[in-house]
Amino acid sequence: MTAQAMVAEFDDIAAWTAEAVEHLGDQHAIPAACRGSASPTALAWLAEACELSAGTRLLDVGAGTGGPAAWAAKRFGVRPILLDPMPAAGRAASRLFGLPVLTADGQRIPLRADAVDVAWCLGVLCTVEDKAAVLREIHRVLVPHASLGLLVVIAARPITDPPDGNYFPMQSELVDLLDACGFDLVEQTERPAAVPLSWTRRAQEVTALISARYRTHPAYTLASQQDTRLTDLFDHGHLSLQLLHAVKR
Ligand SMILES: C[S@@+](CC[C@H](N)C(=O)[O-])C[C@H]1O[C@@H](n2cnc3c(N)ncnc32)[C@H](O)[C@@H]1O
Repeated sequence: MTAQAMVAEFDDIAAWTAEAVEHLGDQHAIPAACRGSASPTALAWLAEACELSAGTRLLDVGAGTGGPAAWAAKRFGVRPILLDPMPAAGRAASRLFGLPVLTADGQRIPLRADAVDVAWCLGVLCTVEDKAAVLREIHRVLVPHASLGLLVVIAARPITDPPDGNYFPMQSELVDLLDACGFDLVEQTERPAAVPLSWTRRAQEVTALISARYRTHPAYTLASQQDTRLTDLFDHGHLSLQLLHAVKR
């Protein structure tokens, strides 16, 4: 992804999200901080598939503002470690949830081998050109036979004009990649469509406040353009959101 588009989408918006949540209240934090299109139903599917439980060391690679990891900590008592290359996203996550954050690239995870019990990587692989490098690093830091939960935007056909900096894998490519990087795919399902209104309402209130405050900001315009293009691809059936559970061989 180009530096400018990435900073707009994942750094500027993250900082504005934390600011808006602080204004609107803590109950807005998790829905607003799930930026990979995770929903409570999607997160519950991943949590059950990965058999999260109290004390599980969960590494969230590309954690963004930290909504999914915070949800897992609250619901299952896991011990999350967040990793994201965007400094403002990490600052927003620690401001909102007080969780530990590593500001680093998923291609070079600053953890020793066998350091974590489960990894999540939600809405991230489509923004990374070298997906194998990220998957190999996740494989290295997981304990043997550990679970990997993925949320991936998959292309039904090659997308010739994706939003800036997106590299959507096709199904066969993703399956081959997981295998080549040492993971067995256990299960896959389309992200459940149903999202409770109480969740969408809180996320939308945060979005509306950000828009009211920043809609004339160049980063807001850039992020909105990316979003419009993405929505268009979903609406035309070229993209779908898939949940995957894989296990380290
Ligand atoms: C669509 S957001 C998803 C954020 C979060 N996983 C969620 O579901 O709310 C994608 C995230 O991937 C991060 N990202 C992009 N390239 C990355 C890389 N090479 N390694 C780790 N994270 C990366 C971005 O900074 C951004 O926070």
